[in-house]
Amino acid sequence: MNTQVLAAGEAAYTKAAELLRQGQLVAFPTETVYGLGANALDAGAVPEIFRAKGRPADNPLIVHIHDEKQLDGLCTIPEAARPLMRAFWPGPLTILMPRTPRIPDCVTASLPTVAIRMPSHPVARRLLQVCDLPVAAPSANRSGKPSPTTAAHVLEDMDGRIPLILDGGSCDVGLESTVIDVCHGTPVILRPGGITEDMLREVLGTVEVAPSVLRPLGEHEVALSPGMRYRHYAPEGTITLIDGDEADVVRALKLLYEQAAEDGRNACVLCFTEHMQTLEACHPHDLGSIHEPGQTAHRLFDVLRSLDDEQMRVIYSEVVPAHGIGLAVMNRLGRAAAFRTLHARDVLASAAPAENRPSDQ
Ligand code: TXA
Ligand code: MG
Repeated sequence: MNTQVLAAGEAAYTKAAELLRQGQLVAFPTETVYGLGANALDAGAVPEIFRAKGRPADNPLIVHIHDEKQLDGLCTIPEAARPLMRAFWPGPLTILMPRTPRIPDCVTASLPTVAIRMPSHPVARRLLQVCDLPVAAPSANRSGKPSPTTAAHVLEDMDGRIPLILDGGSCDVGLESTVIDVCHGTPVILRPGGITEDMLREVLGTVEVAPSVLRPLGEHEVALSPGMRYRHYAPEGTITLIDGDEADVVRALKLLYEQAAEDGRNACVLCFTEHMQTLEACHPHDLGSIHEPGQTAHRLFDVLRSLDDEQMRVIYSEVVPAHGIGLAVMNRLGRAAAFRTLHARDVLASAAPAENRPSDQ
């Protein structure tokens, strides 16, 4: 199949809408990441998404809408969802809602709920208007790769697998939407994203964060969201996160890089813009300003994708504080690193000559 990339515009929307109506797939930009869409009500088209991505069939999809009226007959809206829809739609918030049988089982992996989101990106909105269909769309990456934040990323993963990619430039947020469950008592954030815990708490009063957001799922633990079960965003090399005071972290990164390079490993560091110069000999990749976790969110997937392109084997990374958008960054970066973390002080202490090591006496 020949994959066409079209700059967003009316002709492209018409073509995309036509393909969606025919049961074909179209990749399109949203404010979070690029999505791979099919008509959510077409039980013949939706399985094509799973095929193109190589996605396990038991991982359900998000349904995208441009108008709340589209939900009539598809799901019931929980009371707690209404203030969230008013406050954050259109925008990067996905809300689980009890579904009706009109939504095909392949969309929800036969779960009793369906995930709904109204994106704010003008290209996504216009496409949803022109086709006037609810569009089921996961991120437009091959399963296990970082979500795409540019049309070039989508092409890298989907060339020859889908007929059309709408190019709307690079995605603002850069990480996938926040997923919230308001169907069962206290609202729970299943996946952190651009709509933060504090923003949700302001509207809902109370909200919890699923415990597995910042640690690996236990062997016998039941995933609240099927997506948490799967290996995600892991590059072929090994990422290790370095935690601690800023100056110690920079010294530890340098030391670890030098050790890996001495061992002949293809190594690099992921660091903040402010540390790029100090670490210039360590093959640094820029995570954005230490003061702007939103920049790190915006760049993270592009940086992660470059690691495999450059065949990096050993990667050491700085971390951001896990609150605000930083929680979403640490969820994705943590998973990419299998939550492997070293403390900078321990790294420095174990490398120091014995007489200089910190002692307990
Ligand atoms: O920003 C986003 O959300 C992007 C854009 C394209 O909208 N989409 C996206 O979709 O990230 P995807 O499929 O990559 O992630 C959807 C997540 C998965 O972790 C899935 O398990 C979860 O939402 N999910 C979907 N339906 C669910 C349901 N009924 N119950 C629990 N989790 C659900
Ligand atoms: Mg995804």
